[in-house]
Amino acid sequence: MRQARYGSTMVTAKALALALAGLIAQAACHAQASDPLAPAGRWSLPSFGAAALPPMGWNSWNAFKTQVDEDKVLGSARAIVASGLRDAGYRYINIDDGWWLKRRQSDGRMVVRTRAFPSARGSGPEDTSFRPFVQQLHAMGFKAGTYSDIGRNACSQGYPDADTLLPVGSVAEREVGLYEHVEQDLRLYFEEWGFDYIKVDGCGLNAFSPDKPAVQSGQFRAFPALVVSDAINQTHVDEIRALFAQARDTLLRLRPAGDFVFSICNWGTANVRAWGREVGNLWRTSDDIEPRWTRMLYNFDSVATRELYSGPGHWNDPDMLFIGHGDFDEHHLTEARTHFALWAIEAAPLLIGYDLRQAPPALLDILGAREVIAIDQDPAGNQGVIAYTSDDLQIIVKQLAARDEKAVVIFNRGLAPTRATLTAAHLKFKPEAPIAARDLWARRDLAAFTGEAAFSLAPRESVLLRVKGTPELEHGRYLSEMPARLFVAADGIRALQADPQIHRVVDWGQGNTRGSGTRPALAGWGGPRADSTPYNNELRLRGSAFASGIGALADSRLQVKADGQFTRFGALVGIDDSSLGRAGTVRFEVYGDGRLLAQSPDLAAADPAYALDADVRGVGTLELVARERRASRDPVVVTWAQAALTQ
Ligand code: GLA
Repeated sequence: MRQARYGSTMVTAKALALALAGLIAQAACHAQASDPLAPAGRWSLPSFGAAALPPMGWNSWNAFKTQVDEDKVLGSARAIVASGLRDAGYRYINIDDGWWLKRRQSDGRMVVRTRAFPSARGSGPEDTSFRPFVQQLHAMGFKAGTYSDIGRNACSQGYPDADTLLPVGSVAEREVGLYEHVEQDLRLYFEEWGFDYIKVDGCGLNAFSPDKPAVQSGQFRAFPALVVSDAINQTHVDEIRALFAQARDTLLRLRPAGDFVFSICNWGTANVRAWGREVGNLWRTSDDIEPRWTRMLYNFDSVATRELYSGPGHWNDPDMLFIGHGDFDEHHLTEARTHFALWAIEAAPLLIGYDLRQAPPALLDILGAREVIAIDQDPAGNQGVIAYTSDDLQIIVKQLAARDEKAVVIFNRGLAPTRATLTAAHLKFKPEAPIAARDLWARRDLAAFTGEAAFSLAPRESVLLRVKGTPELEHGRYLSEMPARLFVAADGIRALQADPQIHRVVDWGQGNTRGSGTRPALAGWGGPRADSTPYNNELRLRGSAFASGIGALADSRLQVKADGQFTRFGALVGIDDSSLGRAGTVRFEVYGDGRLLAQSPDLAAADPAYALDADVRGVGTLELVARERRASRDPVVVTWAQAALTQ
């Protein structure tokens, strides 16, 4: 038995490996030739899809799980219109797991669960169409979103509980995911049914491996575990990327005008941090949010240090909002406001996960707070950058489109009331010039301040301000003030590691503390950062600390979208004082549209910081390369202190 089972699994695995090898080879053709540090000479981030701003809308999952149905969805959609939320920007109405009944065996066409979605009924039980449902949403002024999985099977099938509504029928009928049906399914969803948005989950790649009891008992066909959530060394990064890229390419073909949104849901695994921006319009950075304070913190933390990986068209996704439930319900308005403010400062997608048919006005008031939404939807698309951090208190600053305007969240993570001092330096504003501030939750202007201002915060409270002052650099901007215009073309990471700071994920609240608990699970430790080293240290060269700059690893290449708007680039560069790798030397190179504009000599750890200065008039894309010249055994941390573009 055992032999036979493994035998057949191997055949599957071999066929799969071959198919994937083909996909990866295709992808490699598009990828850049050998030297990752060679300047591309142009902005390399592909632009696709309809996500110039972080998507806003509603999704059925947090409210209804698989018990989603037409009344619930349309009822919430009507409430969104009636409450003014649609006009405040919530445009997408998305269904999640649970909508499907089966895959028709005569031709592989997906069948809708019509008991839940009666408007999808056709001439026979296996003849269904979401078109009327989608048309109804369109007629209400919404866009419509659907849901699938990149593997053969879905999350609900991998992790069912007592009231999960599952696909029915034979093993093959229950294979509802995109795998080997990408073209057919996406054509159906986007061309025939008219959906505008798809979230593609990844449970098919981790919950159906040959060792799983449900697979062993014959309920599902085995699929090799390409994602091993807590073991990045066992996760098949290239294969996973290739599968999602295939779905993106298909969408590009079906919707050449780019009117689609592609949401990748692989929970921050498989180093999606590094490639999400090239493959999707948004990608989850963590496991699922739960309506608990600690869980929200974990989701927030998973994006908070990834400010250089997000920007117009491509967004870090800390998961959907849980406002309305548990620690964020109408009895916890402080927590609900904090959750919303944090998502807004991070330019996160704002997808409501609440049954709006019965929403109390106080919650609608939070979700509809126009001035807060405007922070999330600011056209510059910058994610917030951490200006101050500790276990209890954080200050996060987001540069807005207007040069002299920023949003700032002062966030009390803890359970004690506390005080905080916001300084002009946190804002990169001149300390001697007055700073105007508006409290966005209180909806009132505060007295202008100079230098610094003090704030009192209740437990778990966030003060959210919109401030206006005189930029420290009057005729330019620090690169760390324009994170959306940076693209990490090569991160210099030698070996993928989980981020040891993001490990607060608690078990699912089931009281299951058998075993030794959850461990850091996500890849992504060591990527470049704004105003921080990749390992979360202060930027420091030869004993001097720098509040502004970019920290990276050696053998990295960063692109900057300069768009011909600047005249000079300048930075003080060197091996950072915190670098473990001290034996190496690094050369810093600055390219403008592929041309070498400036470079440092080979710098050793003991050398003084080197001032780079380049004329960047007319340059569209600037590329910053830190090239390791003499190799070091340990990773070399480099600092581009005060890196700035001036006009
Ligand atoms: C995964 C996703 C969730 C949701 C469920 C549906 O857990 O991360 O957002 O889509 O699957 O089963």
